[in-house]
Amino acid sequence: MRYRKLGRTNLEISEVGFGAWGIGGHLWQGSRDEESLTALHRAIELGLNFIDTALAYGNGHSEGLVGKVARDAGARIFVATKVPPKNELWPAQPGIGIEEVFPYDYIVKCTERSLRNLGLECIDLQQLHVWNPEWVGRDEWRRGLEDIKKSGMVRFTGISINDHQPDSALEIIRTGLIDTVQVIHNIFDQSPEVSLLPLCIEENIGVLARVPLDEGSLTGTITENTVFPPGDFREDYFRGDRKAQVVQRVSALRKDLAGVSGTLPQIALRYCLSQPAVSTVIPGMRKVRNVEANCAVSDSGPLEAATLAVLKRHAWDKNFYD
Ligand SMILES: NC(=O)c1ccc[n+]([C@@H]2O[C@H](COP(=O)([O-])OP(=O)(O)OC[C@H]3O[C@@H](n4cnc5c(N)ncnc54)[C@H](OP(=O)(O)O)[C@@H]3O)[C@@H](O)[C@H]2O)c1
Repeated sequence: MRYRKLGRTNLEISEVGFGAWGIGGHLWQGSRDEESLTALHRAIELGLNFIDTALAYGNGHSEGLVGKVARDAGARIFVATKVPPKNELWPAQPGIGIEEVFPYDYIVKCTERSLRNLGLECIDLQQLHVWNPEWVGRDEWRRGLEDIKKSGMVRFTGISINDHQPDSALEIIRTGLIDTVQVIHNIFDQSPEVSLLPLCIEENIGVLARVPLDEGSLTGTITENTVFPPGDFREDYFRGDRKAQVVQRVSALRKDLAGVSGTLPQIALRYCLSQPAVSTVIPGMRKVRNVEANCAVSDSGPLEAATLAVLKRHAWDKNFYD
């Protein structure tokens, strides 16, 4: 496993981090705690030292599992979590004021709850789980994030950017008041590479590349007949003819990638890590076999320029979260 600096925080974090949404259950059906804990332990054995969770992932369930593993680990594990929007609307909607989404007291209270769920004395990275650029001049988030740092509850702060809207973070980055951003970045959504990632390099902002496998499209396992368990959010994400669209896109991708070593999901993770601005890529993984395949990616290094040029053609402008 190789390590990169998380922007100006100077934390040395593993290139492959652990996306802990799925292990929270709820919107991801079929999670089993024992299997999730085994996956987390194996990841740490393989050198992974960064985990991204959220209070909203199973209403603290994911944080409970992550905290247990982080406390028991022999090594230092860096934990990132998130303050959910108070109005429970993902993504943030234009025109809705910050007082409905991240009031000051609410930011503090959620951080206290996350600390209790995690059983840790300090959260390494606290993120706002949605962001609306209309809030940039408002006091609530500035004071909230500053005070949870001052009180020692949190070391660093950041935002998780709304789906497929990388440029909505440009202004808040320029305030100099956050340390990191979390953004959808994968072979299909290359849009952060235009303005966001260059600005993050310039301002030394840490970048967490989320949803690197497009919620499963880029695993190459989705077929037109794939059925998700009832209540699983992917039933909606891949609704209607979307599975057929994915099959077509993935088949074109595979054709162009003939000769490149590694599986499709491994190439997809290397795609993110080929961007120097990316500090860590955080695939969701609940199974040991996925942990082992994904952690191995770091040692392969970035993709070759010729492969990256081919992948440019596979950008796909879509929003399946809608
Ligand atoms: N708004 C936000 O802030 C936000 C939104 C979404 C995600 N996130 C963060 O980003 C993380 C990653 O996104 P995600 O988990 O939604 O989606 P993802 O990483 O794009 O895809 C996860 C899926 O890929 C499968 N998988 C992983 N490695 C694989 C491999 N090597 N081969 C085959 N399949 C593999 C997983 O299977 P198993 O689960 O069965 O192992 C899971 O079904 C989340 O866990 C969360 O931490 C944040």
